[in-house]
Formats: sequence, C-alpha cells, structure tokens
Amino acid sequence: MYTQSFNVPDADAKPGTPLKAVPHDAALQAHFDAVVDADGKIEPRDWMPDAYRKTLVRQISQHAHSEIVGMLPEGNWISRAPSLKRKAILVAKVQDEGGHGLYLYSAAETLGTSRDQMFEALHSGKAKYSSIFNYPTLTWADVGVVGWLVDGAAIMNQIPLCRCSFGPYARAMIRVCKEESFHQRQGYEALLTMMQGTEEQKAMVQDAVNRWWWKCLAMFGPPDADSPNSVQGMRWGIKRISNDDLRQKFVDATVPQAEVLGVTLPDPDLKWNEARGHHDHGQIDWDEFWAVVNGDGPCNKERLATRVKAWNDGAWVRDAALAHAARQQARAMKEAA
Ligand SMILES: [Fe+2]
Ligand SMILES: [Fe+2]
Repeated sequence: MYTQSFNVPDADAKPGTPLKAVPHDAALQAHFDAVVDADGKIEPRDWMPDAYRKTLVRQISQHAHSEIVGMLPEGNWISRAPSLKRKAILVAKVQDEGGHGLYLYSAAETLGTSRDQMFEALHSGKAKYSSIFNYPTLTWADVGVVGWLVDGAAIMNQIPLCRCSFGPYARAMIRVCKEESFHQRQGYEALLTMMQGTEEQKAMVQDAVNRWWWKCLAMFGPPDADSPNSVQGMRWGIKRISNDDLRQKFVDATVPQAEVLGVTLPDPDLKWNEARGHHDHGQIDWDEFWAVVNGDGPCNKERLATRVKAWNDGAWVRDAALAHAARQQARAMKEAA
C-alpha cells in the first residue's frame, strides 16, 4: 500500500550491501546519467552508483515492510466485518497488500540484498515502515476510512513511482497501483453506505475521518524545505513529484469526495484559494509524526510483536517447503543422472 515519500534512515543506518564492490568509472557514471536523463530504465544487471543502489534498497524494503505491516490494522477486522460481502472484499484487499509486499521484496532482492536480511531488519526493529500503521483501527468506519484516505494517499505517492528509473520497482508499481485503486474505491463505497444509515453510523464515519485526516496528510513526508534528500531522488529519477506537491494533489482531490460523502474534514483552515487554484490547509503536527516514526506511536510495539509472532508461527511452513524443494531437486538430479 503505502510508501512514505521520503527516505527515513533505518535505526542502524545500514542499508543492504551490494553484491560486490563496483569500481567507479567515469564512463559508467556518464552512461548511467544519460539513461536516467533520457527517462530510460536502469536494470539490475546495469552499473549503478552505490548511493543509488543503497537508496533504492532502503526505499523499496521500507515500502515492502509497509505493505505487510499494513495488513495488520485491517486484518483485525476480517472476523468482525458486518456482512459476507464486506468480509470477502476485506479478505481480498488484505491479501493484495501481502502480494504487494512480495513484489517489492523481489524488486529489492535484485539489488543484492536478501529477503532474510530485510526480514531480520524489520523483526529486530531496525527497519522503518510507514508510521500510519502505528495507529489503531477502532471501529468498522476506520476500515472504510483507511481504504478511502490511506490507500488514496498511497495512490498519490505511488503513481509517480510507476515512472521510477529502476525497472523492477517501476514495473511492480504498475500492478500495485491498479490494486490500490480498488482499495480506495471499496473504502469510499463502504463509507457511502454507512452515510446513508443511522445517525450513529454517520457519527462513526465522521469520528474516523477526524482521527485519520491529519495522519494521512503526514504520509507525504515533511515539507519540501525540510527534505534535503528529495533533490537527489529527483535527479536519479526515483522521485518525480515533491512531498508538498503530492500532498496538495491529495487535498484537492479529497475535498470534493468529502462533500459527496457528507463528512467534514477536520481543518478550520481548509479553504479554496482562488489565486493559487488550490486548497490551503492548516499546519501538520510534525512533532507527533516524528515521535511515531521513531517508535513512540500507539501501536508500534503491538505491530512488531504481531509480525514477529506470525514469522515464528510460520517457521514450520518454511521448513516444510524447503524440505519439499530439496527432495524434488534430489529426485530431478537422480532422474537426470
Ligand atoms: Fe492498499
Ligand atoms: Fe498495497
């Protein structure tokens, strides 16, 4: 689902290691620059600067972690969905997020970091993932709002990544974005249904919007003035649109959707600015954002503990799969001999 549109150093600030040290060569660098400048694609076999590789490993692995941790807040609601239809939709969505994680781990692996290394970084608490998942989903309306706003913000972040200069990441994002579009619509449709219901249901939707709105705006990362790495990301063709511009696009797209839905976005400063041709909005609480990124959110510990438990509980499945593969391979070799 959800990439943060900025680079957060992991806790140990030691991203994946390249397969082998690559000698720096002006001709190779010039070729790399030319491909990037021409909006071409860099593939895993191509020479790339170490810093480009490290940046991508960090961004793609953080993105992958966000997808699979993002399964947890909504997964909590599968057994409590209000109808068979809603349950089937939610199961499909949560499963999609698992698939997004797998595409992205595969893309990161092509850069020379192993899946085991990435899981170890996540499970030991060194790796970051999107801070939005460190908040609880308190009611069924939260599931709708997560689809509408969190997946909606993710789409804004991720569509430009379909044009990322690194081929495997760009190709993974094309499929991911198609599925995110379904996620956003199912959330909005669930909320529309609730808004045609009782006063209690409408109040539940408004309460969920109030709790999620500001956190979704923060998903686009700090203001451009405080994002010094963004310039390099743009130069490399990894990042295409700035944090503030993406946030603005999200606000402008969401305001009319909120009107149709009949909810109020909880920002007294939110208003149309005729001169700019965009909506102005109020100040985001960046202190809260950084506190949650750095481990102090309401659900950080719970999310990590659930993830680690799932990993440990699945050990027998991985062992069985490896034993089966080894046996198949031995049989194939015997038949070939
Ligand atoms: Fe999603
Ligand atoms: Fe996703």
